[in-house]
Amino acid sequence: MIEPAEFASRGEGQLRQGGRSLLLALYTALRSLKMYPLENATVQKALDDLDASARTLLQTEIELEIRMAGDFIFVNSTRLRVELDNYASFSHILAMLRAFEIGVLHIRSGMERREWQVFLSLLLSVSQQGEVDERLEVLQERLDAAKVAHLELERAQAEGGSSQESRHQAKRVFAEGVAVTRDMISGVRLGRGPRLKRVKRAVQLVVDQVLNNEMSMVGMTTVRDYDEYTFTHSVNVCIFSVALGRKLGFSKVQLYDLGMTALLHDVGKARVPAEILNKVGGLEDREWKFIQQHPWMGALTLFGMRAYEEIPYRSILVAHEHHMKMDLTGYPKTIRPRTLGVFSRIVAVADGFDAATTRRVYNTTPIEPDQVLKEMWDNPNRGYDRVVVKALINLIGVYPVGTCVILDTLEVGIVAAPNPDGQQLSRPLVCIAVDVDGAAVPLPGNQVSLMEKDDSGAYKRSIVKVTNPSKFGLTPGDYFV
Ligand SMILES: [Fe+2]
Ligand SMILES: [Fe+2]
Repeated sequence: MIEPAEFASRGEGQLRQGGRSLLLALYTALRSLKMYPLENATVQKALDDLDASARTLLQTEIELEIRMAGDFIFVNSTRLRVELDNYASFSHILAMLRAFEIGVLHIRSGMERREWQVFLSLLLSVSQQGEVDERLEVLQERLDAAKVAHLELERAQAEGGSSQESRHQAKRVFAEGVAVTRDMISGVRLGRGPRLKRVKRAVQLVVDQVLNNEMSMVGMTTVRDYDEYTFTHSVNVCIFSVALGRKLGFSKVQLYDLGMTALLHDVGKARVPAEILNKVGGLEDREWKFIQQHPWMGALTLFGMRAYEEIPYRSILVAHEHHMKMDLTGYPKTIRPRTLGVFSRIVAVADGFDAATTRRVYNTTPIEPDQVLKEMWDNPNRGYDRVVVKALINLIGVYPVGTCVILDTLEVGIVAAPNPDGQQLSRPLVCIAVDVDGAAVPLPGNQVSLMEKDDSGAYKRSIVKVTNPSKFGLTPGDYFV
């Protein structure tokens, strides 16, 4: 028998998968219609696919609601994850619908292939005409004239353009970071010289984005890509390190060096066989020994690249030192006492936090972010520099983004962002996910600031405790990218 919870998650999984195929089909149809005439076989096939994927979803759903909220696309309140492989198609669709200020598409049961064809042709022709705020009316009139009855369009709510703009920018910077890291690691594997100019440019983009809009960049570290762990991890460590360096008062030039160093910290992993890096389940002693060689293999690799004169010498030191721990109980073992360099201490903290909060092959259950911070702060055996851990707590708050919290109003929420003024770390912005009566608030939740006060001057809401989101059937990732 299927338990209700299991049933719900199964339905949601189907919707997520079906929603992704629908959007991909929509994108393909739009693109082919833009390039070829309607009669062309590619266009016809794309329309067939689009019609089929909508029909499949409409077998189980009464109506499909495709809603754009910021950079997210929801299909019937299931948020579709923007991942690197669907980034192009999602952003194309978002841009197209934005050109009309469309916020929601309602697709009703009975939607015909002919209606899709009319809709897409009109989207392409009308998007070039007139003023943005008039286009939606024009489109709507023409759809009515063509008797498109199963489709309804809703105008988007106005939203702050600048924050949306910076989220876009952050995504582009992140994607470029992942691309250069992938290129560099495969270059090292193949014994090819790295394209360091491109790596350097990518790092500069990260630094500039952290300086312009820190939270948009730090927010990107919650995008977890299972298959691309090694690359996304390096970019995440780069972002955290630069943001930490900034908190610690580094200059822009120092931040460039720190970012480069952080991005390269695990370059030695390129020399560890992929089957060991990606092994599911426990590692044998021999395999652990191999992994533990990555610091000095990284140092050697970078030493070999020094001829290019683009690598900060500290990168070599950080590749070598980042697992040593402050008390030198980590690896590789040192013969003489030494003090870790400040770059190594920063990268070690960024590395430890990202690794512990990420789900990956040999760590299938990620630990809750607040537990990770607490452990890094409380347990001296972890060997982190306390000043840097303090900076990390300041950066992401005592309640990191994604933490599930119970409030004194008995509402349950997911932490959406740290308190913007950085002072009151226990008063972040929270998405209310479960209301006072215990009822679920539809996604994307209702965002409130815990700084809000009532008429008597008392805080309206305060955090009582951190809880496990699964107790309330919540998935924190649903509230973010
Ligand atoms: Fe490492
Ligand atoms: Fe690492």
